[in-house]
Amino acid sequence: TEAIVTVDGPSGVGKGTLAQYLCCKTGFHLLDSGAIYRSLAYGVLDQDLALDNLPGLVELAENLPVEFIETSILYQGQDITAKVRTEEVAAMASKVAAIPEVRAALLKRQKDYAQPPGLIADGRDMGTVVFPNAPVKLFLTASAEERAKRRVKQLKNQGVDVNIRQITQDIMERDERDRTRKTSPLVPADDALEIDTTDLSIDEVCKLAMDQLWK
Ligand code: C5P
Repeated sequence: TEAIVTVDGPSGVGKGTLAQYLCCKTGFHLLDSGAIYRSLAYGVLDQDLALDNLPGLVELAENLPVEFIETSILYQGQDITAKVRTEEVAAMASKVAAIPEVRAALLKRQKDYAQPPGLIADGRDMGTVVFPNAPVKLFLTASAEERAKRRVKQLKNQGVDVNIRQITQDIMERDERDRTRKTSPLVPADDALEIDTTDLSIDEVCKLAMDQLWK
C-alpha cells in the first residue's frame, strides 16, 4: 500500500532513535505507538481505573483525550511529556496493553497516521498487526543488559535518578509480559528484517536501516 516503515522490538533497543532518524531523512510522519499506550496508562492512573473495569478502559482508550504536538504530549491540554516517561507509567502501559479489547480500541487511531508522504511506525506490533502490508519492516533486538544500559543512559540524560538493577528487572518484566501476551505478542513479522543492535552504534543501525528503504 503506502510508504510505511515499521520499527518494532523490545524496550530500550533504540527504536525511538532510529524512527526519528528515519523521519528526518524521509520527511515521513512518525507514529510513536508506545506514547499512545503510555498516555492511556497515564489516564488509567489519573482516574484510578481498575484493570478489571473493562468497559471503563475501553471507553477511555476509544476517547483518549491526548494530542501529540511536535515533541509534546498533551492530555486534556496538560503537558504530560515528562510524566509518561516514568517506570510506573511504563509498567501500567504494558498491563493495559495486554488487554485485547484495549488494543482493538486503539487500532483506528494508529492506522489513521498512515498519510502521505509516508509513515515511520514505532512499536511492538506495527509490522504484525497495525500495518501488516507495510513494504519495509524492521525488528530491532539487543541483549537485556545492553538495553538496560541504554535505558539508564537515556533516563540520566533526562535528569532522572536511576538504579540499574531495578531498571534491568523492570525491563525484563515488561518484555516478558509483552512477549507472552495472547493478543499481539512481541514477535517479528515473517517478512521483517531483524537487526541485532547489541554491538552496533546508532550510526551503524541507521545506515543498515536506510539501506532497506525502497530498495
Ligand atoms: O515503547 P514504549 O516503551 O513507550 O511502550 C510502552 C509499553 O506499551 C510497552 O512495554 C508495551 O507493553 C506497550 N506497547 C504495545 N504495543 C505497541 C507499543 C507499546 O503493547 N505498539
